[in-house]
Amino acid sequence: MVLVSKLSDMAGPFIDAVRQSIADGSFVRLVLKPRTAAAASETPRRIEARLIELRGQMRISLTAHYERNTRTSNLSLEEVTTWLANELEHQPASVYLETTRKNLQWQPTATGPRVIVHRSHVEVAPPRTHDRPRHTWLDVSARPWLRALGLVDATGRPKPSAAPKYHQIERFLEIVSHQVRAAGWWSDVTMGADRQPVCTSLGATSSPKLTVVDAACGKGYLTFAVWHWLRRVAGLDAQVLGVEARPELVTNAQRIASQVGMDHLQFVVGDIATASLPNPDLLIALHACNTATDLTLLRAVELGTRVALVAPCCHQQLRPQLQAPPEWAPVLRHGLLKERLAEWLTDALRVLFLEWAGYRVRVVEFVDPQHTPRNLLLACVRVRPAFRDSYRRDRIMQLKQQFGIRVHALDPLLDGHIHQTDSSSRP
Ligand SMILES: C[S@@+](CC[C@H](N)C(=O)[O-])C[C@H]1O[C@@H](n2cnc3c(N)ncnc32)[C@H](O)[C@@H]1O
Repeated sequence: MVLVSKLSDMAGPFIDAVRQSIADGSFVRLVLKPRTAAAASETPRRIEARLIELRGQMRISLTAHYERNTRTSNLSLEEVTTWLANELEHQPASVYLETTRKNLQWQPTATGPRVIVHRSHVEVAPPRTHDRPRHTWLDVSARPWLRALGLVDATGRPKPSAAPKYHQIERFLEIVSHQVRAAGWWSDVTMGADRQPVCTSLGATSSPKLTVVDAACGKGYLTFAVWHWLRRVAGLDAQVLGVEARPELVTNAQRIASQVGMDHLQFVVGDIATASLPNPDLLIALHACNTATDLTLLRAVELGTRVALVAPCCHQQLRPQLQAPPEWAPVLRHGLLKERLAEWLTDALRVLFLEWAGYRVRVVEFVDPQHTPRNLLLACVRVRPAFRDSYRRDRIMQLKQQFGIRVHALDPLLDGHIHQTDSSSRP
């Protein structure tokens, strides 16, 4: 990531970059999040622009997503310049330009907008056809288990009641695919024209063996999805294990896996703190209740897991302990704000603990908050030896002390006594 500039007038160069990418065919899409106005329902949450060919003319198709509906309009290339200039003048919350060369992120700051350059993840521009097939991370061969889990109807359409879960699964697979790629476990792949993953080595025998554990897997939605994507779509030799405390959920998930014929997918009853686990390359936990998230993170550190993807759930441990400095009294006076502060501190401490344990941690928005308020995901990648940098440990202690936190579920990491498995020989 390169910081290009922090100048107040970035609009011209940004618009030029958009025009240039359209002219040279590298344009993938542009996503703009307007600033929310007073009448929030009249402001689109998000506008997505893509390039299409309409009756022999190139057009930019804008899809504006409102709270309850979407509206589409098609602009000529000249009109796009005016539209974008107008939007930038109103200081949108964010604008993201994706091209096959690089991505540009427009971001407002207190001193004016700045533009950040990111690496592109898309190698091939999407087709310019008008009716783009809907992108999905789950191909048609996923239908039997999706149906058995009650997520889709007989025609393969997500059931309305299951739409948030279905959306969550797709987003999770998108994140998994980036991590698997970044870890170098899946390289013989290009992102295809319609942003579908195209695996050129399906069934390859040379791909590394991957071990994946889904901690507190519940009914196994993500366990099935990760298995499906890694093995069937990416063609990787993955073993996937779901661990869950409730036996009836495990029995049901195992029955579906057997019925559908999903080899190398297993579910076991167990407590995530004590279950006998293989050394996973990838450890996932989605909305594992309260400190079960931390138990998962402790296991990740103990087992030398390279990548851990964890979306925390309810945060109950810190709230009763909070004793903020006097300046924070106005915040702690309100129960709801106190609860939010406890959530933020819990996750901020998780990040610090994991950094101390040798991980690089990114906090990303998992799904749109409209689907669930539990929408943060900690993407953790082990990048250095654990427990070496005392500065990181000091930061944990300082933050705990500042807010009167005596106990955090990750405290066992403080003394670095966790026995770490050496997984350096693994891929
Ligand atoms: C909110 S559900 C999430 C299920 C699943 N990860 C998903 O997102 O669909 C949380 C699950 O965690 C399980 N759980 C909580 N603590 C656990 C622990 N210590 N060990 C194993 N499972 C646990 C619960 O039984 C429950 O099924």
